[in-house]
Amino acid sequence: MPGTEERIYDEFETNLIPPSWRDRIWEKEDFRKFYESTVKDRQAMENWWEKWADELFWFKKWDKVLDDSNPPFYRWFVGGETNLAYLDTDWQIAQGRKNKLALIWEGEPWDETSGQPKEVKKFTYYDLYRESNAFAYCLREKLKVQKGDILTFYLPMIPELPLYMLAVQRLGAKHSIVYSGFSAEAIAQRAQDAGSRIIITADGVYRRGRILSLKPIVDEAIKICAQNGHEIEKVVVVKRTGQETSWNEAKDIWHHDLLKDVPKNVRIEAQRLGSEDFSYILYTSGTTAAPKGAQHSVGGYAVGLYATTKCIFDLRDDDIYWCTADIGWVTGHSYIVYGPLMVGATSVMYEGAPDFPGPDRWWSIIERYGVTVFYTAPTAIRMLMKFPEENVKKYDLSTIRIAHSVGEPINPEAFRWYYKHVGREDIVASSTWWMTETGHMLTGHFPGLGKIFPLKPGTNGYPFPGITMKVLDDDGNPCPPGVRGYWAITSPYPGMLMTLYKNPQRYIDTYWSRFKDKMYFYTGDFAVKDPDGYIWVLGRADDVLKVAGHRIGTAEVESAMIKHPAVAEAACIGRTDPVKGEIPFVFTVLKQGYSPSAELGKELKGHLRSTIGPLVASDAVIAFVDLVPKTRSGKIMRRLLRAVIHGAALGDVTTLEDGVAIEEATKAYDVVKVALEKTEG
Ligand code: WTA
Repeated sequence: MPGTEERIYDEFETNLIPPSWRDRIWEKEDFRKFYESTVKDRQAMENWWEKWADELFWFKKWDKVLDDSNPPFYRWFVGGETNLAYLDTDWQIAQGRKNKLALIWEGEPWDETSGQPKEVKKFTYYDLYRESNAFAYCLREKLKVQKGDILTFYLPMIPELPLYMLAVQRLGAKHSIVYSGFSAEAIAQRAQDAGSRIIITADGVYRRGRILSLKPIVDEAIKICAQNGHEIEKVVVVKRTGQETSWNEAKDIWHHDLLKDVPKNVRIEAQRLGSEDFSYILYTSGTTAAPKGAQHSVGGYAVGLYATTKCIFDLRDDDIYWCTADIGWVTGHSYIVYGPLMVGATSVMYEGAPDFPGPDRWWSIIERYGVTVFYTAPTAIRMLMKFPEENVKKYDLSTIRIAHSVGEPINPEAFRWYYKHVGREDIVASSTWWMTETGHMLTGHFPGLGKIFPLKPGTNGYPFPGITMKVLDDDGNPCPPGVRGYWAITSPYPGMLMTLYKNPQRYIDTYWSRFKDKMYFYTGDFAVKDPDGYIWVLGRADDVLKVAGHRIGTAEVESAMIKHPAVAEAACIGRTDPVKGEIPFVFTVLKQGYSPSAELGKELKGHLRSTIGPLVASDAVIAFVDLVPKTRSGKIMRRLLRAVIHGAALGDVTTLEDGVAIEEATKAYDVVKVALEKTEG
């Protein structure tokens, strides 16, 4: 029950107050008053964000903090000019961090003899600056990349990824990063929508000691693009694993050849970008099969990221910070690359699996570099906590002072384990809520607030000052404490997406039209606020799954399934999973002439792997049924299907879909249940 959790954290760490708040010792009412002022009074809200903007570097200062004349197309720091690459490198060097470590990269391969990783690379801020300048030079001079071009990246967790990101920002070009667990079709769809003519990839990637190929997937994507009339002109390939790879002389170029003959000390001036220009797009899943290109700004994104990185992670000069996400997702964009570098931190980046060569790899990394601030996902915690405690106990994790999580709700049990074993019951920890669209964290439990807001395991803490979020009913009215409702953001904030790339109408329809006449941003989540004002995000309210923290739409899975010749219909539902949070469970109706078999099940999984990617395919359960129950208006009865797979009786499904007769539902329930028992038996 929300609100009744045991309070396990009540230390007030005066040493953990973010620098700009360090002269403040918050009292409960004091903080609440301050928080309220930043959300109730528009001017105070603008002042709060402007104070953070003032700390950043700008080629030209803004004329106006917020232009809200054309909602929901809010514009922040209008008239200002800056550049993410400049903030992350040039500006750091100007502040005296030239020789400070910016990035520590550890490759996956492990040397059993020495008991050490085979490869570790360290980059100072000067190294990042120098190398990203060389990358930018080659992109501009050899591949004719210009301001405004969008490049698609399909890269694993190797240092070239952040370097190419910085190079692209430097040129005022933009990136669209496709997670390296996605399929050829997913790359093609995104590259085409973004109008990319260049893809940057690698020959392969190390994963759990094996070599997986990436380049052939890009080759396939290029073919799909060509069939649809979109030409990918160049593919830059980083040699990571060195395996044999297919080669097309006309298009392909090795990264190391591209970087040949760069003039010494080449410098490319960072483009002065308008605050309201965009820095990148990142495609994310929604309730239809077509992914949405969340388009992020330059200035507003930088300010929101800077403020939250400073306050919620409290990063200081002697910190070693590690976020375990993949840069292919928004968490990696914001909190491995742009955010930590913007505050001058040392950021750790690890290439491989958490359990390779053994389930203690992560804990060894924390000890090896003396990580002080840690950011990970609940699914990883749940996976690692299954192993004997010795795996974590044998390492010195005493350096950790802050450890947050993100991506999905954290169950109290996992939180307690994390707090106890990683945090030794002596840290600030919380579940920070945000999403691709918000650009940065919007809630959390930040250092300095420990005493006044004791931590409750599983909660998302309190919204960040300046962020107005509410739990609303169907009509957009606030729900009383303890009552579940829709989680919405009711006023603008700097890091918010600007729009959906090339699709402003979809932006309005998807996010801003949920609550009748009220112009609120609908997150797609359910949440509840407890009587103390803490937020508990309960999970998605729409047809989006979080599989091991990765976001995927049920419609994407369904539309992939029906592309297979044997499949007539498919309905995908999230099934609760103790480690992954949720897994895709696909009810599948076969076309006449096909009959259910283990081989066909395997084939369909292979089909999912090639159409969506291993991410979904490896966890998906495919169940053959004779029908997918639908309402009279043709909508899949998802609640009923959910009840069936979770073993709930039909009577437990309190509200059935609109317009479904009980007899009809009962019949469908029985049919599906019997089919399921057959499949699972
Ligand atoms: C979920 C990830 C509960 C939520 C940064 C949201 C969370 C979706 C949390 C966005 C959290 C993220 N507690 N749920 N701390 N963080 N979520 O776009 O359902 O991959 O809508 O961004 O993840 O996922 P996305």
